[in-house]
Amino acid sequence: MEHMRHNQLINSMITLFEGDARRINHFLKVYAFAKTIAEQELLGPDLQEIVEVVAITHDIGIRVSEDTYGTSNATLQQTEGPPVARELLTSLGYDSNLIERVCHIISLHHTYSAIEGKDFQILVEADLLVNLDEKHSEETQVRSMQEKIFKTPTGLRYLEALFLHHRRSVPGTNLLSSPI
Ligand SMILES: [Fe+2]
Repeated sequence: MEHMRHNQLINSMITLFEGDARRINHFLKVYAFAKTIAEQELLGPDLQEIVEVVAITHDIGIRVSEDTYGTSNATLQQTEGPPVARELLTSLGYDSNLIERVCHIISLHHTYSAIEGKDFQILVEADLLVNLDEKHSEETQVRSMQEKIFKTPTGLRYLEALFLHHRRSVPGTNLLSSPI
């Protein structure tokens, strides 16, 4: 049942971002990281659902901001997102407490000082894992996020695996090219 609704939500977000592969790929990557981190951090069913729904919808304000104002800065996204999210989630039958929490996180998701719960924390970590890669961030930027923002053991492990784990290539030991 929940899975069916998430599918409908993903379909709606793909339709909303139609013609914009970058943004569709962005929210799907954030969703995959957020879902996996929340599962490994044993958030429990209610928070797990909030994390998944907010990951799918967190950038919902971008299209509306662009259509209305011709631009989409962080502040506009944060104010324009919640009304659209509320309407979409209500039409799909999501619980009103979940909708309020999801809208709250959407409205503040670029404001790191506002993080006050594991659901919010995981959304921010997942979004950063994807953004640091999409923006080709420098290692100093990654290290700064590691120190200041990341908190969950799983998020920290993924940050390290994606950006801080330098593979040593030793001549003659490439497993892919050696016959097995
Ligand atoms: Fe995002």
